Amino acid sequence: TARVRVHHLQQAKERGEKWAMLTAYDTYAAAVFEEAGIPVLLVGDSAGNVVLGHTSTVPVTVEDLLLMTKAVTRSTKRSLIVADLPFGSYESGPQQAFDTAVRLMKEGGAQAVKLEGGVRVAPQIRLLTEAGIPVMAHIGFTPQSEHALGGFRVQGRGAGAEQLLADAHAVQDAGAFAVVMEMVPAEVAGQVTKELSIPTIGIGAGPDCDAQVLVWPDMAGMTSGRVPKFVKKYADLRGELLRAAQEYAAEVREGSFPGPEHSFE
Ligand code: KIV
Ligand code: NA
Repeated sequence: TARVRVHHLQQAKERGEKWAMLTAYDTYAAAVFEEAGIPVLLVGDSAGNVVLGHTSTVPVTVEDLLLMTKAVTRSTKRSLIVADLPFGSYESGPQQAFDTAVRLMKEGGAQAVKLEGGVRVAPQIRLLTEAGIPVMAHIGFTPQSEHALGGFRVQGRGAGAEQLLADAHAVQDAGAFAVVMEMVPAEVAGQVTKELSIPTIGIGAGPDCDAQVLVWPDMAGMTSGRVPKFVKKYADLRGELLRAAQEYAAEVREGSFPGPEHSFE
């Protein structure tokens, strides 16, 4: 079957069909999630935390994301691949955003890019869209602005709802094909979803969004320690990998691996 395209996501909204998005950073995850029928994969700068060992997305570079975007696009042919624009690679203006997006598309093979912000990045979204680059926006809690937002906090509560609605409309008017809403009250996210004609993708934004996204090591139980309230763990991959590594090490120590079936005469 052919590659998922932006207009397919628009059609899904019109038909009221919900869909799931996951992050992917390497060949294994990309291939498995495509086989699972996940229509959109995000090479997210959450890689800073879950792949690169940083404590935030702020240190992630264009080079980091390029490497992972290449791996994911080489390993898929059906899912739509969206690459994040990392912190510092688009904020100074539309031209900077364009230069970064072109690299992720030409060198990385991404079919769309995502950037954080609403009203303030509308000029960037407009230029990219006019240049033929599909843009996914990201509003509500935006991890790259963690330090300005005062930590991991729900956005769009009380008077903040008005700003969230303004951001949602600004990104749609600027040409975004979809918008991620992170850590937003369910009711506000539902209202945005009703008001916008483009698909909304929720993460900690309740059940009324057109789509949902999760960071895959969180949803598969690969991350250690606490995960955010909005994460559901669908597996215990960390536990399973730990068991496999311990068993392998024990068998090597006691001499039961490799056996004759793993050895050459
Ligand atoms: O980087 C990321 O994984 C994201 C999603 C949480 C939307 O931006
Ligand atoms: Na991100």
